[in-house]
Amino acid sequence: MKKYLVIGNPIEHSLSPKLHNYWLNKNKIDGNYDKKLLTDEKVGEFLKSNQKISGINVTVPFKKTVLNHCTELTELASISQSVNTIIFSNEKIIGDNTDIYGFEQSLKDLNFDGLNKTAFILGAGGVVSSVVIALNNLGVKNIVISNRTKNKAEALAKEYNLVVSDWGKIVDFDIVINCTSVGLKQGDSLGLDFSKVRDKIFYDIIYKPKTKFLIDVEGLGNKILDGKMMFLYQAQKSFEVWHGIKPEINEEAINLLND
Ligand code: ATR
Repeated sequence: MKKYLVIGNPIEHSLSPKLHNYWLNKNKIDGNYDKKLLTDEKVGEFLKSNQKISGINVTVPFKKTVLNHCTELTELASISQSVNTIIFSNEKIIGDNTDIYGFEQSLKDLNFDGLNKTAFILGAGGVVSSVVIALNNLGVKNIVISNRTKNKAEALAKEYNLVVSDWGKIVDFDIVINCTSVGLKQGDSLGLDFSKVRDKIFYDIIYKPKTKFLIDVEGLGNKILDGKMMFLYQAQKSFEVWHGIKPEINEEAINLLND
């Protein structure tokens, strides 16, 4: 039986095992997917000593930590400097990135066309590079980034050719994406006022619970989108990379995340 894992900290609430085990079952693959809580210092040792594992998903806060412990990176992992999927193959530890695909695909579902659009990114954490690359792939050339700690936004802006805006200021945008961790705790508020904005897309990378960022603008004529489809698509891509089968995102799979 092949073994798969998701590593992170915290990890207890990860829904990856539920989803991957459902797909393993459904596709009659003899495998098992588990979760493992690690600390930063233990990640390298764990990857090196676990050659019995066939694949690993990596979640917060290790998507950058694992870069140094992979023996190879795919092009997507390299350009994003972010790994969420690891493939173990013939002594090699290959770091890959399926978050880019996940985010991109979720917007393709909306027939989103990035031409002449402005994206406004809130936050400068680990997921932002994947979001930026996906937006670029969708044709978005104008990306504004704002982060509480400005120098982190400036570093990303330099790397990916973005415009930095002061935290607290709301710029003109077509789509705003919350990439901060604010909202993971129910009721958490960014303290930004979007109440006058109409006919725009509000995207929150967080998919549970429904964030105040989305609740506040719901019903004002804006399109709102949580991180559920991004999560499903990145998982689908990881599954495909490991097993060579593209699992189905059907109602049952979606409902696994709602329980
Ligand atoms: P990491 O930085 O380790 O990748 P992350 O969870 O991916 O962590 O990113 C957290 C993001 O949420 C950061 O952009 C962080 O802003 P800072 O860089 O200023 O820390 C942002 N964030 C967290 N709490 C916040 C808050 N209360 N208000 C605004 N932004 C917040």
